[in-house]
Amino acid sequence: MQYKFKISLFYKILISIFFVLSCNEIKKETIYKKGMVSSAHPIASKVGLDILKNGGNAFDAAIGVHFALSVVYPNAGNIGGGGFAVYRLNDGEVGSLDFREKAPLKSYRDMYISNSDDGLTVDDKKSKIGHLASGVPGSVDGMVKLYEKFGSLDWKLLLEPSIEMAKNGFSLTDKQSNSLNRVMILFDSINDSEVSFVKEIKWKENDVLVQKDLSKTLERIRDKKRDGFYSGLTADYIVNEMKKGDGIISYEDLNNYSSIWRKPIIGKYKNHKIISMAPPSSGGIALLQLLHGAEKLNVGNYEHNSLEYINTIAEIESRVYADRSTYLGDSDFYNVPIDDLIDNKYLDNRFSSIDPSTKTPSNQIKEGNIQFNESEETTHFSIVDEYGNAVSLTTTINGAYGSKVVVENAGFILNNEMDDFSVKPGYPNMFGLIGGEANSIEPNKRMLSSMTPTIIEKNDNLYMVLGTPGGSTIITSVFQTILNVIDFNMGMQEAVDAKKFHHQWLPDFLVVEKNTLNTNLNENLKKMGHKINERSSLGRMDCILIENGILEGGADKRGDNTALGY
Ligand code: DON
Repeated sequence: MQYKFKISLFYKILISIFFVLSCNEIKKETIYKKGMVSSAHPIASKVGLDILKNGGNAFDAAIGVHFALSVVYPNAGNIGGGGFAVYRLNDGEVGSLDFREKAPLKSYRDMYISNSDDGLTVDDKKSKIGHLASGVPGSVDGMVKLYEKFGSLDWKLLLEPSIEMAKNGFSLTDKQSNSLNRVMILFDSINDSEVSFVKEIKWKENDVLVQKDLSKTLERIRDKKRDGFYSGLTADYIVNEMKKGDGIISYEDLNNYSSIWRKPIIGKYKNHKIISMAPPSSGGIALLQLLHGAEKLNVGNYEHNSLEYINTIAEIESRVYADRSTYLGDSDFYNVPIDDLIDNKYLDNRFSSIDPSTKTPSNQIKEGNIQFNESEETTHFSIVDEYGNAVSLTTTINGAYGSKVVVENAGFILNNEMDDFSVKPGYPNMFGLIGGEANSIEPNKRMLSSMTPTIIEKNDNLYMVLGTPGGSTIITSVFQTILNVIDFNMGMQEAVDAKKFHHQWLPDFLVVEKNTLNTNLNENLKKMGHKINERSSLGRMDCILIENGILEGGADKRGDNTALGY
């Protein structure tokens, strides 16, 4: 199959003219003409860029970047987790791949409810830390599936840079060294074998992180693709690791794992076509619901991040997250009413009670007593190639460094994605999200996600590729970034830089980035009844805006994110 599109000479000249004209308005370093990669780490973006420059397409680059992140961004990049990819080919065909983790065969609905006297106590830690927290990883199968359908370069070449960096090491950024220092003790306490992330003295910037075992695992994947992970030595290592910590992932689980091509969720916002992820992610449905509310309530008419703007958006968000908690789960196991949830009449009615100057209390269910953690633990990247294909991919091991279990001899971290299930109806997960039957644990079922890899078309052309980590805040960060570009005419980097806020119905907090609200706004929101929860940052967006043949990157300065192009 060929996904190349030759740009005519005339078109190239036009691009150059627009390029020169628009350079005055947008910062030079984020503007390119041919291809671009925006990811959480400069080295991973460079790996992707080199693949594009060597004639690879967006899928080749996505595979290279995914494996590179598993080495250079171990807090979220992974081979022991899972994710979702949404793509758009240069002929307009769209699709998506679900490589989300699955509940192991030995899992069961109440597996995190301990035998207390009333039988109802949730054993909180077990879904978050240690061997029982992991779902069956999907990332390697996902990359192989992407390659088999769309890859154009040699598979082995796509893995080579990652193997090299794992074997010989790479230099840590300042943010990474701090992040590793925060979790070293935990790694040490969970793992009885040596872990490359742990050392005697603290990590500091430019220290070299070497991951020999990981390099060998990557070599097995290079040589045997899927079988290099789901069977043979790597499978032995995973199953042995499980035995050490009462984990339940078996050979059968690994052998059975298969990622799934799914029809993306498609809708409209102000004449833009929105293409996003279907269940088991809630992202696509929730994003369309949010955008419907934004259009109905004309939020673009308010001043950006003003009192009415923030309250109206928070009201829309609360209603959408209430729907999420009841109706969304893995549609292969639960009858998710997808069409009803994004039906125009339903949504008109759903948002009709919103008054921009009033806050509706979210008091039906007792709010969860959770801590909002700093959230850079998932990772998203966006890629556009010179042929006009686009890939929007979000991948995760859930919390930072997942379950903290590093598979002995295999050198990679296992996810703690089981916590994304509703471990008990109404009981909040680590992001404060609650759920019920739709997202209860069943063997082979995929846990509900908020990941929202998204692609947008304008006038039938590729317009935006975007996504972010952030747990429950992923959907609202993607939502507000879209509004920033479409309603507030921001460029891509500006839209990413803009301060964000988040409401998820329960717990009833308005989560706001520091320095978003002046004293007046803060007071007025409180008077309305908002309980304000400040966070140092929201999201780590990686986006690309395509206008007049020019690519503008939006790489989040809240992290080490970097957009590179040519
Ligand atoms: O799939 C989900 O929604 C979560 N496991 C994502 C976790 C995440 O974004 C953590 N990082 N901030």
